Amino acid sequence: MKARILTILRDNEDVVSGEDISTHLGISRVAVWKHIQKLQSLGYGIQSSAKGYQLQSSPDTPFSWEFPQRMDRIHYVERVASTMDIARDMARKGAPGFSVVVAGVQENGRGRLKRVWQSPEGGLYFTMVVRPDLPPMLSPRVNFAASLILARAIESVCNIEVRVKWPNDLLAGEKKIAGMLSEMEAEGDLVSFINIGIGINVNNAPPSDVGNAASIRQLTGRDHSRIDILSQFLDQFEERMSTGSLDSIMLEWKEQTATIGKKVIIETTRGTTRGTAKDVDDNGALILETDTGECRTIIYGDCFHQNE
Ligand code: BTN
Repeated sequence: MKARILTILRDNEDVVSGEDISTHLGISRVAVWKHIQKLQSLGYGIQSSAKGYQLQSSPDTPFSWEFPQRMDRIHYVERVASTMDIARDMARKGAPGFSVVVAGVQENGRGRLKRVWQSPEGGLYFTMVVRPDLPPMLSPRVNFAASLILARAIESVCNIEVRVKWPNDLLAGEKKIAGMLSEMEAEGDLVSFINIGIGINVNNAPPSDVGNAASIRQLTGRDHSRIDILSQFLDQFEERMSTGSLDSIMLEWKEQTATIGKKVIIETTRGTTRGTAKDVDDNGALILETDTGECRTIIYGDCFHQNE
């Protein structure tokens, strides 16, 4: 009902009477008034007068009704430990593909390699359940598709140049604006779900002790719409997963990467290696020429560009 009331208010720049809304939606004027009060308490600037209601501003909060085409698959929570935990439960209980848990704040946000992901207000933090029809071996392609499509979505919404860094970070210049964490479960030869968790520094200020992190607001000097970023990303990612093949995804990713050709430091659970990133193979592994001249294929790890 809130979505429908917002649509009516957004379609009319002028004041809309409570009676018109109630007739249109087939609910009483008191019910309309209660929904309006709820929307106001959630941050919608709705002016109410004797003549009716007028929408003056909307909060940039990713409430489910802000995504009318996928409302039943968006689960917004104001505050949570980590969206990864909720999404894992949901996926195990059979939530459909492209279900999304999105949080205003995470109190225990997780990064890759057991790091903490600071998640204060203003950032965009979500985990999406993906159910690709793929063998586990090909699952990295889904992550690479997600990071590439996210980079394109941010470029188009925020008008900023974004590059992907191996394996799945997003950079603007050499500043990290987003990171991705993924968890996969498989049954036999098929992936049962991949949960892709994405944290984007949109309008927050990343803590100064987090190396090369920056927010899009810090880089552009203005606020950006988290709703628009999420909506564009989900539409384009779902479209690609449903209709497009992922066969060319690594080629496309390589066109948008800042990693290949760079001097890099690779951290894995087995230690640190320095070298030059030569290529990324079809499975998403990094081909590294070490400073001692060896060629190594790195399947999992973290990568720091040496000019960071
Ligand atoms: C990284 O670069 O280390 C990955 C960061 C991933 C952070 C996101 S925020 C949403 C989701 N929930 C989490 O706890 N982590 C991921």
